[in-house]
Amino acid sequence: MRPIFYAQKSPKETDREISHRDLARKICADGIVLLENNGILPLKANTVALYGAGARHTAFGGTGSGENNPRHNVNVEEGLNNAGISVTTEKWLCEYDELFARELFSYKKRLKKGMRKVPLGEHMDYAADNPFYLPAGRILTDSDKTDADTAVYVLTRQAGEGADRKDIPGDYYATEDEIMLMRSIAERYKETILVLNVGAVIDLSFLDEIRFSAVILLMQGGMETGNAFADILTGKVNPSGRLADTWAYKYEDYPCADTFSERNPEKFQEDYREGIFVGYRWFDKKAVRPRYRFGYGLSYTSFKTVYSSCQNSNTEISVTAEVTNTGYVPGKEVVMCYLSCPENILVREAKSLAGFKKTRDLDPGESQKITIDFDLTDFAGFDNGRHQFILEHGDYIVYLNDTPAALIDLDADAVTEKTEPLSLSDRNIDFILHDKNQRKIPDGLDRVEIKASDIGCLTHEYKVPGFERSAEIDKIISKLSYKDMSRLLTGRTYFGPFRHRVFGAVGYTTSKLFHKGIDAMPMADGPQGLNLTRVSKKPWHNIYAIPTLPESIRRKNSAISEDSNGKELYYQFCTSWPSETLVAQTWDVECARQLGAATALEMHEYGVVFWLAPAVNIHRNPLCGRNYEYYSEDPYLTGMMAKYTIQGVHEKEGCFPTLKHYAANNLETKRNVSSSNLDERTLREIYLKAFRIALSHEHLEAVMCSYNKINGIYSALNYDLQTKILRNEWGFKGVVMTDWVATGHHESLDELCCKAGTDLIMPGFPHIPSKIMKAYKKGLISGDDIERSARRIIKFALESHTAKN
Ligand code: BGC
Repeated sequence: MRPIFYAQKSPKETDREISHRDLARKICADGIVLLENNGILPLKANTVALYGAGARHTAFGGTGSGENNPRHNVNVEEGLNNAGISVTTEKWLCEYDELFARELFSYKKRLKKGMRKVPLGEHMDYAADNPFYLPAGRILTDSDKTDADTAVYVLTRQAGEGADRKDIPGDYYATEDEIMLMRSIAERYKETILVLNVGAVIDLSFLDEIRFSAVILLMQGGMETGNAFADILTGKVNPSGRLADTWAYKYEDYPCADTFSERNPEKFQEDYREGIFVGYRWFDKKAVRPRYRFGYGLSYTSFKTVYSSCQNSNTEISVTAEVTNTGYVPGKEVVMCYLSCPENILVREAKSLAGFKKTRDLDPGESQKITIDFDLTDFAGFDNGRHQFILEHGDYIVYLNDTPAALIDLDADAVTEKTEPLSLSDRNIDFILHDKNQRKIPDGLDRVEIKASDIGCLTHEYKVPGFERSAEIDKIISKLSYKDMSRLLTGRTYFGPFRHRVFGAVGYTTSKLFHKGIDAMPMADGPQGLNLTRVSKKPWHNIYAIPTLPESIRRKNSAISEDSNGKELYYQFCTSWPSETLVAQTWDVECARQLGAATALEMHEYGVVFWLAPAVNIHRNPLCGRNYEYYSEDPYLTGMMAKYTIQGVHEKEGCFPTLKHYAANNLETKRNVSSSNLDERTLREIYLKAFRIALSHEHLEAVMCSYNKINGIYSALNYDLQTKILRNEWGFKGVVMTDWVATGHHESLDELCCKAGTDLIMPGFPHIPSKIMKAYKKGLISGDDIERSARRIIKFALESHTAKN
């Protein structure tokens, strides 16, 4: 087996790196949301006083498998310097560095001590459960006031995989020290700008007491965070980001705040009692005013959006409008379309996002006509009792942003899709909301009429899927025993004699069948780019140093040198993109497509076949540790962003995106043992919807199952999810892989995966093939179950770009 190395031998920056870095900066700037501005921004001053943990220790992304490892991350201070803005607070920042180093040292000592008591293999969970909370830094006295009129304070939070966030100071809340510091800054400077360098929603109640001239939601923007921030601050880029989540006044305003994750008295049962009322759906229904609503964001200019028309071809609706820049600087506007559905049997959300469009950069006075298209059937409600999606008769109100624009009048109920009952648990979920909306149909709107008799009904054939067939697949299969196939169903762990040397790959498919014509396929984590090591001597997995530490101090293998000490060094410089939430905040599917296409180029460059991204779990609660890795609280926005990212990846043949984590993986603490309990309607309308939108069926792509149980059955073994819904209903033809070590513990049995429709067990351990064979011999799984999955994997192996090397 001839090994193939993909990494480069020189640390020199390439043209590809430079152009992807520019793209990362553009996407980041397009997703930053301006929350408040008293007119101070764009900043005219070229001197600022800079404070806060995130000034130098900027969080570029969260922690865990979604981390990445670019050549260089631009922090906020560097971004300001690059933009020609001088920072007057060198002394405070250097003192902070010392404080930070001291706190970190003692934290590491505490962590090490604690870890001695933890069984091997649970160290990552332990570290995630005991995160390093960033110290605030010294409170200002009068003598600290520097020669600048404007201060910038960067509030930073870090979270990630393995543990949920906590509703405590230092995490969801600002600490007393942080509040005192912010107060002391605001008192001493004429203007103070607050920058939120966070992965997800935090409490902002200190805004009610401390005066800020502007608030910028920077989020975690990947390697170009600092430059993109400076672009927004100076007005080089006019902010056009809009929130992808609802920011509440208080944590308790979110649904199930008192029982989410660690607050749950029933540790292993997470009941989705809010049903479909997640995010803005909940706030609208309960009439709770949020601090910042979903879709909110300011600009340095103003826009006027005028509705033009609403037309239809059967259920396909097209809404057109004209957007004019009525201000004084160029800028982009986001137009959103919402739908309010009639309620006869089903209780519906007050309104839900049905479409959106971002304009091009419009000059002052310039207009653009935009069209938002959607299919009404995609917004049918699911009737649990009758197992069908239904559009109920009556008036559907189409909103353009907040304003009612048109009515869609459906003359009778229309069943749009019939499904077979799922084997859900009989756990009784005690729903919180039952009330119907107080709808008033506005007068004088354009009216579109649809006849129920013109709407077709989708039906499905529920059967065990057939074999993937082609002359080539058949030929290879004919050479394989079931034993061989069981090897194919088992991934390879991080170590071993691989043909493809991809440093930092998080797994591979087996290379043991190379002599039979099946090549191994390397996989790299995402979604903020390819999570590969930068410099390597050996093809080792990039074991995470210490999770939940800020990126700036986490990386071990950071030295980039040409000095090989007699060993060959390999370099891989992947782009670190903005977090998915920030990408969603662009409300621009083109950004998502470009990100996907650029990542596929890097997959080609470094020999990656499966990119373990995008991730489309819904922001059910702000405390989910991994929210930064997911797009939004809204399934439509989430699905569209993922769909275009996938489309981008497909622009390069033989590169496979992997949509994860399927499904209802909405918490991290106890994710391996907890059951997400939800009714079928909630599952389908909220938690599966993004997956359905994103999967294209025509292309090769993969799905990664989640760790959790869904209504008591582990996702990997859940036939309803992996076969009935994914394959029978949605026509998915790709490979389903497990999450890493999602099986092989509790009742999550490796050997039964293929029967449920989960093809590939990752990362795979050497004893698994014999478990599969034993199950086969006992008749627990059939030869066809094994062969079906094997054929799917072979199809991918034949199409992978590395197979051609
Ligand atoms: C994560 C996945 C990731 C996998 C491989 C798991 O712990 O949940 O998102 O792709 O590890 O690193």
